[in-house]
Amino acid sequence: MSATATYPNYSPGLEGVIGGITTISDIISETSTLVYRGYNVHDLASKGSFEETAYLLLYGKLPNRAELDAFKKTLAEEREVPEQVYTALKQLPADTHPMDIAKVGFAVVAPYDPDYAAPATDQAANLRKAVRILAKASTIVGNGHRIRQGLEPLKPKAEHTIAQNFLYLMSGNEPDPEVAHVLDSSLTLYAEHGYNASTFACRVTVATLSDIYSGIVTGIGTLRGPLHGGANEEAMKMIMEIGAVENAEPWIRDALATKKKIMGFGHREYKKRDPRAIYLTVIAKELAVKNNVSHFAQIADILENVMETEKGIYPNVDFPAAYAYYALGIPIDLYTPIFVIARVSGWSAHVLEQLSNNRLIRPACIYEGPHSVEFVPVDQR
Ligand code: SDX
Repeated sequence: MSATATYPNYSPGLEGVIGGITTISDIISETSTLVYRGYNVHDLASKGSFEETAYLLLYGKLPNRAELDAFKKTLAEEREVPEQVYTALKQLPADTHPMDIAKVGFAVVAPYDPDYAAPATDQAANLRKAVRILAKASTIVGNGHRIRQGLEPLKPKAEHTIAQNFLYLMSGNEPDPEVAHVLDSSLTLYAEHGYNASTFACRVTVATLSDIYSGIVTGIGTLRGPLHGGANEEAMKMIMEIGAVENAEPWIRDALATKKKIMGFGHREYKKRDPRAIYLTVIAKELAVKNNVSHFAQIADILENVMETEKGIYPNVDFPAAYAYYALGIPIDLYTPIFVIARVSGWSAHVLEQLSNNRLIRPACIYEGPHSVEFVPVDQR
């Protein structure tokens, strides 16, 4: 008998289990819709900026012009990280994955936060910390990338947006406006997504009344895996392994026959299409054609068709993000860290929400091991 039949209250992977009430975002699977605080994510990505979206997530409303200007000014002022962060990152081996760089970066930033000593339940301090975390994320990832190449970190520029700051630090060049615009939209799409694994992990951490930085570090560690945010890097590696358009169909059919998980496809919550993927696929395919990697768009078409007809499974946001970022010239192992730059806004909104009505998160489990085992002293075993 299956475990779920034996234990009717047990849901493997907590599938379908309601873990809380939120006002931050809603996933409507039947209509492939995603809203952040009531706003359709397509509107936010096409008509707004990532900064407006982050403000919406953190403060619960869209900013007016004066509020947005003030928010951007604060972000610019908080963008630099303490020199000690760079000193720590310089100690890491050259092949350290940028997700570990991000983890170390935030772990070192934490004690330098002016509100470090504030109690975990001080929500005004948590909001200030959330804004600092948002401001610093693109600097940690961008300058972390420089440091691992043996380059010196650059000073962030006040006039840049978050997307521009990342691109500037990553490349050392003034960012191309079109590249920055696409990246900005993708940050909005990546910003928030309910009780996904990393957000849930983040909430579990702060529900113990640990601090927001510990929650963020937990989130980064959880996001990294290929079943979650790490899928954007793995999807790109898969497309590159396929290499040529004529290889795509045999490759995917063989992968399905051998029960491989196809990276960037499928979703626990969306049984039809992921609205973020719908939005980003159009942009990604245009970019691929424009930037001389149109074969990636053709490979993507073939994988999408076979997955839909054979499995009824559609791409999630990580699939188009992969070849969009490739077409923008971003190194593959920075794709998941870009997800971090965006998702710190969602994680922080959830930290604030969790602590506004906190209860320790502690599910039960079913013990299937033995009882009454006699203890035998070590030398007699
Ligand atoms: C993100 O939760 C979020 O909101 C996450 C996220 C966010 O914004 O925070 O949206 C970001 O993490 C996107 C997902 C990135 N991961 C991947 O792209 C990895 C590939 N995808 C799969 O491993 C899978 O679809 C998951 C992990 C995303 C969801 O897994 P579930 O809900 O646990 O489903 P499952 O693995 O149990 O699969 C159910 C069935 C199985 O078939 P059967 O055994 O029932 O016949 O669907 C099949 C699976 O084999 N399936 C796939 C597949 N995804 C599901 N088969 C091949 N390739 C896939 N990608």
